[in-house]
Amino acid sequence: PMLKCLEFFSGVGGWHLALTKAGLKFEILQAFDINENANQVYEYNFGIKPSKVKNNFIFKEKIIDRLTVNELEKLAANTWLMSPCCQPFTLNGTRLDDKDNRSKPLLNLIDILATISSPPGFIALENVPLFEGSNCCNKLKTTLKSRGYLIKEYIVSPKDIGNPNDRKRYFLVALNSDSELLHQDFLPQRIDRLPMKCPEMMKLREFLDVDVEYEYFLTLPDVSKLKNFRHDVVSPESSNCSTFTSSYEARHLKGSGSILQTKNFGVWCYFFEFDRTNPDHLIHIGVRLFTPNEIMKIHGYPPEFKFPKQISIKQMYRLLGNGLHISCVSEVLRHAVMEKES
Ligand SMILES: C[S@@+](CC[C@H](N)C(=O)[O-])C[C@H]1O[C@@H](n2cnc3c(N)ncnc32)[C@H](O)[C@@H]1O
Repeated sequence: PMLKCLEFFSGVGGWHLALTKAGLKFEILQAFDINENANQVYEYNFGIKPSKVKNNFIFKEKIIDRLTVNELEKLAANTWLMSPCCQPFTLNGTRLDDKDNRSKPLLNLIDILATISSPPGFIALENVPLFEGSNCCNKLKTTLKSRGYLIKEYIVSPKDIGNPNDRKRYFLVALNSDSELLHQDFLPQRIDRLPMKCPEMMKLREFLDVDVEYEYFLTLPDVSKLKNFRHDVVSPESSNCSTFTSSYEARHLKGSGSILQTKNFGVWCYFFEFDRTNPDHLIHIGVRLFTPNEIMKIHGYPPEFKFPKQISIKQMYRLLGNGLHISCVSEVLRHAVMEKES
């Protein structure tokens, strides 16, 4: 079946890449995002400019909050893909849920869904795990059910499929009877683990760049700022690293992503008791940030995906931190709509 998609909150095009990776036949009718950097990356890679004129329909307001039933009806998409802002739901965020202004675009889409004359056959949403059970999530599910959708929910991490990255996310996949993807084995259910795709966990070394530039290595002032918490230091032999967030480049933020050991592996750590909270020790083992290219490889971006020249390293980290784990999302898609369950 040919999916005619609207990609809301399109960012750098994570859903677009995941549909390709999953081998689904699709066309993106329109992408929507307010972030100009993200839109430049999207256009550079896919030749589609988000939120602008397409097929003679002009969106006067490019923000998703202001889209109308009429505009979306005219686009006649059969697939809606979305990864709304997670800040209203994260522990570090406001936790204001539906009262947060950043939930407005999602709430608008839910309102449109309640009244649109021909709702899309297929809807897929990604968010942080705490989205599940939120007022926004419950409102979405209530609306979907009232419009006859069957819903599958997932809480999954790339680790489930053997990828050495912890990036647990919530996914909702909804199909109605208009969707050709709906097969008789599609069970409304909640899944908390994807089937493993390889015999064992992959190691970080498979995703590392050679000759990483000096600027990615942390200096003593950098690591001194890391004081007072357990650093998340991983090595090329590790089969896990933590979630890369949009603030990774800030270098001093607790829990923004793992840092990589690059030297003095076995022996040094054996003779001297390695202390992760000691800046000198961290310098001795040559800690550095993962490069944006490495994060892209870990997240399953295809090699042909590129950032245009004007996007800075800091912006790349931001965009990747806000983005999707392409391999994980494509496995969710496969699991939800392509693989028949036995
Ligand atoms: C979690 S990110 C989505 C990332 C995307 N899935 C990707 O693969 O890069 C949320 C995106 O929603 C966009 N956004 C937030 N509020 C918006 C609004 N009111 N209208 C349009 N886009 C919005 C942000 O600019 C951000 O790029």
